[in-house]
Amino acid sequence: MSEKLSREAGRRRTFAIISHPDAGKTTLTENLLLAGGAIRAAGEVAARGERRRTTSDWMKIERDRGISVSASVMTFEHRDRVYNLLDTPGHEDFSEDTYRTLTAADCAIMVLDAAKGIEPQTLKLFEVCRLRDIPIVTFINKMDREALDPLEVLDQIQDQLQLDTAPLFWPAASGQRFSGMLDLRSGEFLPYSKRTAETGIEPVSAPRMALDQIKDRMDPSVMQELQEGAALASEALPVMDRTAFLEGHMTPVIFGTALRHFGVGELLACLEEFAPAPRPHGVTDRDSKSLLQRDDPSVSGFVFKIQANMDPNHRDRVAFLRLCSGEFRRGMKLKTVAGKQVNVHNPLMFLAQDREIAETAYAGDVIGVPNHGQLRVGDSLSSQGNIRFAGIPNFAPEILRRARPRDPMKAKHLRKALESLAEEGVTQLFKPTIGADMIVGAVGNLQIDVMAERMVNEYGLDVVFEPAPYNIARWIQCDDLQKLDAFIEKNKSATGTDLDGAPVYLGKNAWDVGYAAEKNPGLRFTETKERFLEV
Ligand code: G4P
Repeated sequence: MSEKLSREAGRRRTFAIISHPDAGKTTLTENLLLAGGAIRAAGEVAARGERRRTTSDWMKIERDRGISVSASVMTFEHRDRVYNLLDTPGHEDFSEDTYRTLTAADCAIMVLDAAKGIEPQTLKLFEVCRLRDIPIVTFINKMDREALDPLEVLDQIQDQLQLDTAPLFWPAASGQRFSGMLDLRSGEFLPYSKRTAETGIEPVSAPRMALDQIKDRMDPSVMQELQEGAALASEALPVMDRTAFLEGHMTPVIFGTALRHFGVGELLACLEEFAPAPRPHGVTDRDSKSLLQRDDPSVSGFVFKIQANMDPNHRDRVAFLRLCSGEFRRGMKLKTVAGKQVNVHNPLMFLAQDREIAETAYAGDVIGVPNHGQLRVGDSLSSQGNIRFAGIPNFAPEILRRARPRDPMKAKHLRKALESLAEEGVTQLFKPTIGADMIVGAVGNLQIDVMAERMVNEYGLDVVFEPAPYNIARWIQCDDLQKLDAFIEKNKSATGTDLDGAPVYLGKNAWDVGYAAEKNPGLRFTETKERFLEV
């Protein structure tokens, strides 16, 4: 059993793709699934999206705005590895959801648009990866369009992300002149041929040949550019060092075009070669801290996402549980640290083609646990109920709105609905110390729109989201509880609590926060909060 457990957990690779909107994340996801043999024809991912949309009204926003707001998981097996691809919403308003998903990944692929390099959202997402020391593989996409000088893009990665870059390949020009890429380790050349998902793609890597073989066929100016660039890259840039990559200091770089399916097989091969197996997780056991290994026999995991009411007729609620150890079997009973028991009769596996019932699952896998609201984001579940993972971070909202029902008789109903959506992680909810206001916090406006739409569709509530008397929220932390209480007592009109009852400072602007921090040494006003629900 333990040998099987080690083997199964050891062949899992759980990763997410991060990118600025439009860099090509969706296209790459689809082509990776194709390369991995998980889907047979392009368009299946989109078709699946269509089906989902027709069953879910609130995703109307997603359809109208052409964005994906709900993260999901896709599992595929390729060359004896089991890959769990965690899909993250790309729109910046949904970055909180993305952050939470990243806590469940062991590795990330960073997709850059070759013509744009590092963009604002790439930087933000990268910072979350750095917070968690998640190793990153870089895919420089859209080489079939005019691109920046590859050295310039690598310089940007080095300067802005402080990551050493180790190109595994070097491109031969870009745009109309794009001719392929040179494998810097083997010296072989991978000629570019325009292949699209529509014209049928074999799930294989590009063919390889000796550079001499291709010399006569290649535009001499492209060949010269390639040879000079490759020589410079080999001289000036480090070679790939797996340890530095796993520690989050170095990123292997691959060039390609997701749309034309070039470089995608190589990206998959890179994951196979370098991506880490599920890593140990920090856990706390009442008063001690330790690392839980993936082949530990106790079954454990944490909830990183809740998706509710995917089907409005069935009020279902699925908690996405990232397993961290043990062999999970269908029908198992798992417990939270607070002792709540959850019977997992119908766990869901999110295979690329459809949902399926999972019989067994291991560390690195994600299972969907249908439940009626017992589970929340950040909850730890284990066979004994004695394992608690470090919390999932909450991020300080950038937009605060006062929620008011148009029908004043519905205030109680509204509070319940807001709490339910906040538990799901759609938005945050704050209760000021004085008064009965309900303040909704979001990272972006779109979150508020989704909230309003769901209020109407799922709860039959017409809600006004109006400007709040505050614009900024920070969690207040202090080791001296008396001091904290005294601060709250003195600042009743500028404090409140979040959904978990944690104290929050509500200010007008950043200056207010700075002033409060200066006047109250010992108190910390933080932008993130790690949530430990069951203390
Ligand atoms: P995202 O999920 O990161 O937001 O990006 P997505 O894959 O949706 O890609 C954004 C646009 O970039 C799409 O074009 C897509 O076809 C295009 N694209 C992705 N990869 C490549 C590539 O390697 N080369 C080129 N030339 N284009 C690429 P669109 O016009 O916005 O959408 P569509 O009508 O093509 O679907």
